[in-house]
Amino acid sequence: MRTSPHPTPEAAPAFNFGAGGWRCEEVPLADLAARYGTPLYCYSRARLLSNYRRLAKAFPAPARICYSVKANPNLSILRELAAAGAGFDVVSEGELWRVLRAGGAASRTVFAGVGKTRSALEAAIDAGLFMLNVESLGELGQILDLAGGVPSGHDALPVALRVNPDVDPGTHRYITTGKRENKFGLERDSFRTALDMLRGARGVHLAGIHAHIGSQVGTTTPYAEAVERLLALVAEAREAGFAPEWVNAGGGFALSYDGTEVPSPAAYAAAILPPLAEAGLKLVLEIGRAIAGDAGALVTRVLYVKEHADRTVWITDAGMNDLLRPSLYGAWHRIWPAHLPESSGAGEISALKPVDVAGPICESSDYFALGRPLPPVHAGDCLAVFDTGAYGMSMASQYNSHPRPAEVLVDGCEVRLIRRRETLEDLVRGEEV
Ligand code: LLP
Repeated sequence: MRTSPHPTPEAAPAFNFGAGGWRCEEVPLADLAARYGTPLYCYSRARLLSNYRRLAKAFPAPARICYSVKANPNLSILRELAAAGAGFDVVSEGELWRVLRAGGAASRTVFAGVGKTRSALEAAIDAGLFMLNVESLGELGQILDLAGGVPSGHDALPVALRVNPDVDPGTHRYITTGKRENKFGLERDSFRTALDMLRGARGVHLAGIHAHIGSQVGTTTPYAEAVERLLALVAEAREAGFAPEWVNAGGGFALSYDGTEVPSPAAYAAAILPPLAEAGLKLVLEIGRAIAGDAGALVTRVLYVKEHADRTVWITDAGMNDLLRPSLYGAWHRIWPAHLPESSGAGEISALKPVDVAGPICESSDYFALGRPLPPVHAGDCLAVFDTGAYGMSMASQYNSHPRPAEVLVDGCEVRLIRRRETLEDLVRGEEV
């Protein structure tokens, strides 16, 4: 049996090549495609949970790992993680609603987001969150207004001030969030003003300081820098008479999409935990990609093989509407025919030829790969687009009026449909004529 070329050590293998071709745990992708149709997202339960457990081991209590719901908000994914002990990181009233609906605890949920509506703030205050992350002075004003009206006897609302540490995470500019020019968090002066606003405020207490510097952060140094800056702000808050207990260092741990080495959870922990422990602070993390990313693959069928302008183009039934990352960020995902072993040592694959893997959408950026060396396939064959468990389905749309894909969760040789394929009726749900 062959496994993924870049398995994470200690983690349960999600995808492997064995009887029936590429499989998710014990189930051939081709069987899943035949049973549930394509495009199809499939997730390995074992991998999802082992990714979470590796993090929980590297960051033991009192540190708290909050799963970032935006990465993959499916109720079944949330339920599995809640049962494993995860907290949650939400950024909208909808995400909070999902968490509660999935049985997640509000008391383990943090709420970030640069544009929280009044109704979201009310829902957050009602729910009894672990921490509400404040992104601007205007938002703090609204929170004070709302929390001031909460009848006394209720616990004060724990808030964290999200600051912008002006640290370069060295990632794609669309997913860089902690540089000064990014819209997120409070600048230093605003931080001071926020402390002034919180002083003597009713119904609210400063529980922590928060920063999220970006996503797919492939080195530990930016975290060490961010923590240093956060500690300076904690010191300032302490001098001003506050006693924040928590530092929320956000998310962003990287996933190796192409086999290049990324830091292990333990390596991130070594950069983040010691300075916090020394300052008597507890850590919160908001991790999405590193929990869900490599637990998922998108299975798509080749509709046509087209020779075009001296190129070979495979037109697949999945497109940027199902998986936006390649079109939006130029992201690289490993793609391989579901029935063929990897090239190394496999005699039957005599020639890899550069192909463009293109979706059906009427946009010139609708490609999963350009000039990618791949073994020949025929129309009707299935491809696996790996490492799409995070920011795959969660960013899918019905663009060009394609119903969104189905999702399945695989547990050994068992398969659970966790979201049915959308129908044409779903396309017009809510519309009026
Ligand atoms: N906390 C906050 C405040 C965030 O904004 C995010 C992600 C996270 C935590 C989780 O980050 P993670 O651990 O998953 O890197 N769609 C992009 C990623 C956008 C991330 C947005 N914020 C992509 O496909 O790469």
